[in-house]
Amino acid sequence: MLILGIDTSCDDTSAAVVQDGRTIISNIVSSQSDIHTKYGGIVPELASRRHIEMILPVVEEALKQADIALSDLSALAVCHGPGLIGSLLVGCSFAKAVSYGKNIPLVGVNHLEGHLLSPFLEEHAPEFPFISLVVSGGHTSLYLAEDYGKYTVLGKTRDDAAGEAYDKVSKLLGLSYPGGPIIDNLAKEGNPKAVAFPRAYLPDTLDFSFSGLKTAVLHHLKSEAKRKEQRAESNKTHILNPEPETLNVEHIKDVAASFQAAVVDVLVRKTEWAVNKTGVRKVALSGGVSANSGLRQKMKEMGDEKRIELFIPSVTLCTDNAAMIAAAGYHRFLKKELAGLDLNPKAYLAL
Ligand code: KG4
Ligand code: ZN
Repeated sequence: MLILGIDTSCDDTSAAVVQDGRTIISNIVSSQSDIHTKYGGIVPELASRRHIEMILPVVEEALKQADIALSDLSALAVCHGPGLIGSLLVGCSFAKAVSYGKNIPLVGVNHLEGHLLSPFLEEHAPEFPFISLVVSGGHTSLYLAEDYGKYTVLGKTRDDAAGEAYDKVSKLLGLSYPGGPIIDNLAKEGNPKAVAFPRAYLPDTLDFSFSGLKTAVLHHLKSEAKRKEQRAESNKTHILNPEPETLNVEHIKDVAASFQAAVVDVLVRKTEWAVNKTGVRKVALSGGVSANSGLRQKMKEMGDEKRIELFIPSVTLCTDNAAMIAAAGYHRFLKKELAGLDLNPKAYLAL
């Protein structure tokens, strides 16, 4: 059974063909980061416009690479939320038009269910039940997944998502968007113990909080700037034309490494707590932040030490892609959960 998945929830236009919810036949992702980088974040209006330009060529390419026609499809699966409303609207309108025009069944997919099921696109896939850490730009949640469509929220972020914290800290450091991969790379060369940033473990719950960490980075940078200003002032008495001191590269690397260590420590520790609480010893990671090298490494170490079986998809399946939407759509289609032409995108949609 071939399903065409479509995802336009954020700043990537993606279409994919997946067989039986498991095998990727094609998976095309057209990134928009070139247009958003200079603004330090996603500009929703620009994102929607680029989706309109890209949706047709991206879908055509997915079909071409899969070497199939629309008539070979069993269903169309489209992400209808959560995400940017204008962006979602493009994918939903397109999918509804194709479904209606070509008489292909339509399925609406929650973006988070797509992330949660993305480990099934790898050969080494989990069996139910498993703990799922979905950690992306908009969400940081722990679920107990007991079956397709049966997910219990164990904890979620009370403020910023981990990816959002990465993107904001990147901006504070004068770096560009998306911040996650940039900080990840810089952190490899920095000292994770250079700055003792706080870890919000929230001991009585599996919820997360990352806004305090982001504020701690801001305070650290401000106090460093002040310290340098004072030093420059006192130097003035000794030196004529002192060099202005700016944030140097080594310091940025140390802040990146220390920030990343704080995020990773909390994500790993709380995942371990979820295992202890449920007794379920299988853990799957998904979402853009699970592409993070530090998180992957520390999670593996924890898994080895605690004998927890880990399922971490390859990096291209961690970040947004339509293969995961097709995979999730397949299971909804099997349950005959079809969408009509009244399928509307939703910026907020719980899983
Ligand atoms: O899942 P995703 O592609 O889109 C959403 O559903 O939000 O996640 C995007 C987020 C961004 O915040 C980005 O900075 C972060 O994932 N990200 C990373 C890495 N790659 C992407 N964060 C940390 N380390 C990375 N290597
Ligand atoms: Zn996502």
